[in-house]
Amino acid sequence: MSSVKFGNVEFASPILVASGTYGYGHETASMVDVNKIGGIVTKSVTRHPREGNPPPRIAETASGMLNSIGLANVGVDEYCKTKLPYLNEIDTKIIINIAGTAIEDYVETLQILEAAGGNHVGYEINISCPNVKEGGMSFGVSAQMTESLTTELRKCTSKLLVMKLSPNVTSIEDIAQGAENGGADAVSAINTLVGMGIDINTRKVKIHTTFGGLSGPAIKPVALANVHKIFKVVNIPIIGLGGISSTEDVIEFVLAGADLVQIGTLNYREPGIAIRLADELDQYCQNNKLTSIHDLKGLVEYH
Ligand code: DHB
Repeated sequence: MSSVKFGNVEFASPILVASGTYGYGHETASMVDVNKIGGIVTKSVTRHPREGNPPPRIAETASGMLNSIGLANVGVDEYCKTKLPYLNEIDTKIIINIAGTAIEDYVETLQILEAAGGNHVGYEINISCPNVKEGGMSFGVSAQMTESLTTELRKCTSKLLVMKLSPNVTSIEDIAQGAENGGADAVSAINTLVGMGIDINTRKVKIHTTFGGLSGPAIKPVALANVHKIFKVVNIPIIGLGGISSTEDVIEFVLAGADLVQIGTLNYREPGIAIRLADELDQYCQNNKLTSIHDLKGLVEYH
């Protein structure tokens, strides 16, 4: 498998699995050789434990799904005790996704993780959860707040610092520039789009919180457009995600400007998809005499 250098980190492949869709790595270990995945981004962890939203939390849509989990997680102290030990054991690059409400939450959570001394390679900062008031969205819609948060977190770590951006904004370019100005190593885009579903028999909304995050192939064109908009205005690397389900999709994201990609919703259908697509991508590179898929970064052509 062809590896990719990203900052100081060497990923075994350019295909990682997205936060919230792969738990903490061990859930699929009986089905998939998790050591072969390019990288795992773990489900958002917060400073304190969260129960999450009441059910129903997920609903299927045409070519996608809606979810409103509400950042359910064990909290960072328990994460260090019960999740980090397994993550430290596996031979896959780990990025820890962190969510919060205020700068201090994010900073404290990151500092606790730094002190825990795991061999994770970086952090992905969720400033784009659409489902809870306290989910960081107030940062995700403001370039200035994104920059301030990034600046504070940058002071606390030399590991990879990736800001995860929301498409539910007026200008994702401004937010990406805020992250770059604050010293982020990269941005990841996109998080879910706000969506809704109604059961016509009961007339009830399909998700308890009425609105949820839409993901899956339905959002791929939106994700691609946002990645390309970001590519045009920043110099830092981009991790592209949103509905990727095939090798062609991965290549499209790279042509639009992505350096790495993440697979999210499709993991539920095929837990080993990140490994299969990485193998297919190698084959594509060989067939097309490319040293690496990175040779195609941003090479989209216009009419
Ligand atoms: C949740 C968080 C997200 O960032 C997202 O895009 C969708 C759902 C959540 O935990 O509810």
